Amino acid sequence: MYVSTIDNSVLESLPRVELRGQINLVTTKHQVQKAAEYLSQQKILGFDTETKPRFSSGKMHMPALLQLSTDTRSYLIHLKKTGLPGELLSILSNPDIIKAGAAVRDDILGLQRYASFDPAGFVDLQELAQEYGIIEKSVKKLSAIVLGKKVSKSQQITNWEAFPLSDAQARYAATDAYVCYCIYRELMEHSEEKKSPRQRMYEEVLAGATALMQDEPDIVANMANVSALIKDVFKFWWVGFYRVDNASRELVLGPFQGPIACTRISYGRGVCGTSWKNRKTIIVPDVEKFSGHIACSSRSRSEIVVPLFDRQETVRALLDIDSDKLNTFDQMDRKYLEELAGLFKNIY
Ligand code: SME
Repeated sequence: MYVSTIDNSVLESLPRVELRGQINLVTTKHQVQKAAEYLSQQKILGFDTETKPRFSSGKMHMPALLQLSTDTRSYLIHLKKTGLPGELLSILSNPDIIKAGAAVRDDILGLQRYASFDPAGFVDLQELAQEYGIIEKSVKKLSAIVLGKKVSKSQQITNWEAFPLSDAQARYAATDAYVCYCIYRELMEHSEEKKSPRQRMYEEVLAGATALMQDEPDIVANMANVSALIKDVFKFWWVGFYRVDNASRELVLGPFQGPIACTRISYGRGVCGTSWKNRKTIIVPDVEKFSGHIACSSRSRSEIVVPLFDRQETVRALLDIDSDKLNTFDQMDRKYLEELAGLFKNIY
């Protein structure tokens, strides 16, 4: 199972990705043919493009480079010299050749400025990684999480229309596509791990809550059932809601499951009052380290608080979950619980 996020300090300590295989520069018609002969025989290609950075507002440059890589060869196609001829278009529209990249939509739009084609066989690693519970989006972080290796981004903002490219640029561009190839392969090999038991539990809760709330507009009834549902599936120490009372500018205890709790919390106080004030989810790995934490129970060790918004984006209530263990909640909990909180928007 992969972690959902990774800290920059951890990322920096990882070994670098070593590009294996040769880098082939493609600038002539003949080289395009040679490249296409090889590339069209592959089942999986790492895919990326590079575009000269735009330093002032104005029209985006056209992509300068198209990179397609396997584990043994990387082709750097200099689009300004080759254009996008038929041999390459048939690879880009072949559904049987997987082209794996990050945020491929933007690359495809750039390429379509050279020639129109129907893109097929593209896989967006950002979306694929999500199915494994990874919420990071950048290739740098995906590489760190999936491969345990770091990629350098030092050449990212350089002039990709330069010719010839510097060795550092060529290596960077090839590595970017190569890494996408490796990430895709790695994820496919672990496809049985796509969802963790915890993700499945959250999906059960979300499906249950959606069904419960579908025909029931009463907020309190829904809060009661949703807290029971979460408690039942996860066995957390305390699960419940606090509702905003505008008259007193306090949170008032709502439906909950668990031991008795504080009845009222002032705006800006404790984890709940802070989440209300900041309009943001708060994850507290260790309640003793959160200054101002309100201890309703001495058994509570870690906590997550998620705001519930109405359609005008006003905070109307908070979902508070306490655990009797340290470090219980992470970004995955945030993602699912925010989705759950979003269900209430329809009935506020
Ligand atoms: N710990 C919360 C108070 C609510 S109870 O944990 C149920 C807080 O600091 O806001």
